[in-house]
Amino acid sequence: MSVEPRQLIGVRGMRSRDVPAVLEIEQLSYGYPWSERIFRDCLRVGYHGWVATDLDETVVGYGMLSVAVGEAHVLNLCVAPDARGRGVAGLILEALINQAKAERAERVLLEVRPSNKAARRLYKQRGFQRIASRPGYYPSPDGREDALLLALDLI
Ligand SMILES: CC(C)(COP(=O)(O)OP(=O)(O)OC[C@H]1O[C@@H](n2cnc3c(N)ncnc32)[C@H](O)[C@@H]1OP(=O)(O)O)[C@@H](O)C(=O)NCCC(=O)NCCS
Repeated sequence: MSVEPRQLIGVRGMRSRDVPAVLEIEQLSYGYPWSERIFRDCLRVGYHGWVATDLDETVVGYGMLSVAVGEAHVLNLCVAPDARGRGVAGLILEALINQAKAERAERVLLEVRPSNKAARRLYKQRGFQRIASRPGYYPSPDGREDALLLALDLI
């Protein structure tokens, strides 16, 4: 899988037919990946999936957002290993935030592992602030890992 520089990456809504490519990146990226069923259920219930694609329409990253009662939640944000470090995650996150604004959400929430330096840096740059910890939120080889709960106020 090859990727072009940031300006050649497009971001569009996730379609059902994107799920196999998304799943491949998911499985390369997480020790505890989402299943195909989870992605399909997210789309079925109307959550907002976005994909980043290169010039060949190859999916190089994706995000999933839910919105309810004024709160948007980033459920997943992931970039293919060989497409990282070029701003692709920033483009997807921007699309998710714009979607949250379009849905009139008052804030965007997300969880991140304290050990995930790249993700934490990305969210900090975009203005997310830590509002709480969720003890034992994530599975990990050593038992459980806490999550940091971050928020971005939109109003
Ligand atoms: C986190 C992730 C989405 C970032 O994707 P990306 O496209 O590489 O991110 P970007 O290129 O937009 O870079 C975001 C920032 O993180 C920094 N960064 C990238 N990799 C890093 C690393 N290994 N350590 C520290 N910072 C890193 C970048 O330098 C950039 O900061 P900068 O603009 O100051 O240089 C990607 O690493 C990934 O998919 N990881 C696996 C899934 C995951 O952890 N998702 C997040 C769940 S909360």
